[in-house]
Amino acid sequence: AFDIGKLRDQTGYVTLDSGYKNTGATKSAITFLDGEEGILRYRGYPIEQLAEKSSFLEVAYLLIYGALPTQAELDHFNGQITKHTLVHEDMRKIFDGFPSATHPMAILSSLICALTGFYPQSVSPDLSPEEMELNIIRLLAKMPTIAAWTYKNNMGHPLNYPRNDMDYCANFLYMMFSFPTEKYEINPVVVSALNKLLILHADHEQNCSTSTVRLVGSANASLYGSVSAGINALWGPLHGGANQEVIEMLEAIAADGGDTSKFINKAKDKNDPFRLMGFGHRVYKNFDPRAKIIKVAADEVLQALGMQDSPLLKIAQELEQAALTDQYFIERKLYPNVDFYSGIIYKALGIPTEMFTVMFALGRLPGWIAQWKEMRENKEPIGRPRQIYTGELERDYKGIEAR
Ligand code: ACO
Repeated sequence: AFDIGKLRDQTGYVTLDSGYKNTGATKSAITFLDGEEGILRYRGYPIEQLAEKSSFLEVAYLLIYGALPTQAELDHFNGQITKHTLVHEDMRKIFDGFPSATHPMAILSSLICALTGFYPQSVSPDLSPEEMELNIIRLLAKMPTIAAWTYKNNMGHPLNYPRNDMDYCANFLYMMFSFPTEKYEINPVVVSALNKLLILHADHEQNCSTSTVRLVGSANASLYGSVSAGINALWGPLHGGANQEVIEMLEAIAADGGDTSKFINKAKDKNDPFRLMGFGHRVYKNFDPRAKIIKVAADEVLQALGMQDSPLLKIAQELEQAALTDQYFIERKLYPNVDFYSGIIYKALGIPTEMFTVMFALGRLPGWIAQWKEMRENKEPIGRPRQIYTGELERDYKGIEAR
C-alpha cells in the first residue's frame, strides 16, 4: 500500500508552512474560533455570554473539565483553590536574587518553573488523576500570589499574603494594592472588570503560547515546566506583550502632541518598522469579538472611576476611527485586537504597564492547563516538526591553517 510517511522519509519531502498559517497541530474540544465570522466559544459557550454572566473560576472549571460546574462542584473547586493560595516561604528568597530591573514576566516564568522543586512529584510522566488534579489546583491557586509578589518585589514593597475570605479577583487586587499601613478598599466595579478581562483571555486555541505549552508538554514535561515556557512565549511583543506596547504607544503619541495621523502613516510606511500595536490578528480577519466586549468594558470602568476624560482613551478612539477608515488597514483586514483596549482598563485599575502581560498570563492560565491536560489525556505523540534544509550539502573538514 502507498505509505506517505515512507515516501517522505525516502524523498525528504515535507510540507512547509512557516508560522503554521494553515497547519493544524492537534485536535481539540476546548475552544472554537471562527476568524472570518468573529466567533469565539469556550466548550460551545459564546464568549459574550460567559463575559457577561460567569465568574473567572467558573470559566476555568469549564475549560479544564469540559462542563459548567454545579454549585456544589464550584464550591468544592473554589474551596480547594483557596486552600492552596499560600506559596512556600522559601520562594520568597528566590525573589531576592532577581535584580530590581527584572521584567515581571521573567520572574513569573522562573517562579512557576521553580514550583517543580517544591512539588517534585509534579514532574512524573505517570501522574495519577488525583496527582494531576492537585497540580492543577496548586497552579491556579498560587499564580495570583506569585504574580502579585512580582509586582510588590519590583516596587520594593512588603509582600502581602493571600486573603482566603476574598474571591479570586478581589484577593489578587488586595495582594497587589494593599499596604500594612493602609486599608485597601475593594471596589466592586474594579473586581468585575478584572473578572471580565480574565475570562476574555482564558483561552484562544492554538496561539503561540498555548502551542508552546502543548509542545513542551508533549515531551512529557511537567505542567509547571510547560506553563513556564508558555509564559515566556506570551511575553513576546507580537503576542501577549502587545498590551504593554499599546499603552506605551498611546503614551508616545500623547507625548508627541497627539497627532494620530502621523503614527498611522508611520505604520503604513514599509521602510519604517513601526506597527500599530493592538491592531491585526493572525486569525480574526473581520473583528476580534473580545475587543468588542473590552471596548464597552473600558468605557464602563472609566465612567465608574470618573476617568472618562482620559487622554489615552481619546487617542485610542481616534486611532481606531482613523485606522478603520484607512484603505491600508481595510485592505489588510487590520482591526483592533483584544490588547488594544485591555491596557486602558489595566491602567485605569492602577496596574502598572510592566504588569500588563502578567495579567494576560493570569487570564490565560486555565486555557494552558486545559490544553496541557487534553494533550496528556489524549496521549499525543511528542511534537517534532520537520524542516527544509537549505545549508551546504557536504564538505570535507579543513584544518584551521587551511581555512
Ligand atoms: N500595523 C501596520 N501594519 C500591519 C500591522 C500593524 N499592527 N499588522 C499587520 N500589518 C501589515 C503587515 O505589514 C503586512 O502588510 P503587507 O501585506 O503589505 O506586507 C500585512 O498587514 C499582514 O501582516 P502579517 O504580519 O503578515 O500578519 P500576521 O498574521 O503574520 O501577524 C500580528 C499578525 C502579529 C498580530 C500582526 O498583525 C501584528 O504585528 N500586530 C501588532 C502586534 C499585536 O497587536 N499583537 C497582538 C496580537 S493579539 C494577541 O496575541 C493576544
